[in-house]
Amino acid sequence: MSEHRRAIVRGVADTFDQAVAAYFGTGPSDVDEAKRQHDTYVASLRKFGVKVKELPTDNDYPDCCFVEDQVVVCDGKGLLTISGHDTRKGEQDVVKAGLESELELSRMTPPARMDGGDVIKFGDKYLVGISTRTNREAAQQLRDFVTPMGYTVHEIPIPSNALHLKSIASSPAPGLILAPRVYFDENSFPEDAEVIWVPEEEVYGANTIGFDNDILVADGYPHAHKALTDRGFNIHPIEMSQIRAGDGSLTCLSVFY
Ligand code: GLY
Repeated sequence: MSEHRRAIVRGVADTFDQAVAAYFGTGPSDVDEAKRQHDTYVASLRKFGVKVKELPTDNDYPDCCFVEDQVVVCDGKGLLTISGHDTRKGEQDVVKAGLESELELSRMTPPARMDGGDVIKFGDKYLVGISTRTNREAAQQLRDFVTPMGYTVHEIPIPSNALHLKSIASSPAPGLILAPRVYFDENSFPEDAEVIWVPEEEVYGANTIGFDNDILVADGYPHAHKALTDRGFNIHPIEMSQIRAGDGSLTCLSVFY
């Protein structure tokens, strides 16, 4: 059964056109369309049976819909990160308030910096991208957090032309990674990972969310879609163009717990 049973999400701010954007585009141009895309996303999660809690948005934080970056969850516990971007630190109070009745929460301490977008839970491992947003001190603090629960941490260097690990890879199903080869090398992923390589031009399509045999994908990435359907998965594409313009992907918009 999918691990994706409950989630928090947070609506798109009226100021989303000021979201930090330096990788997939130069920023959102249509906030109303971004809100419609977010609504479709939330409806999709509910369609897959996820119990979704919607947190209040805050126009002081243009990136606040990207809740994933604020916390890493492990077996009923949450580790609050220290956002890798200074303008995003203040987003965390509402995420903390939304989760503290559900999870036992603790906090990273400086000099750690981490965005949850750099973390993929992969079986008994946490894959952690070391990026412009996430440093090795944070990876060590995550290791200290998950080791008592039986998990290990596997660090992956992220090239400077990518924002987060999950901007360029995801695990749509147990044991499986979807990613474009050009961002990684032969040692990037654990030896037991089965990697489906997608073309570089479809990097955005590498971000997916799996619900057993059903996979939520961004619309418009035919090679990534075919790679998944060829393996027998049912894919469910949704329009993400305006979320993408704010450097956000499917996984960025939720925290599963
Ligand atoms: N716009 C998402 C981020 O840069 O963190």
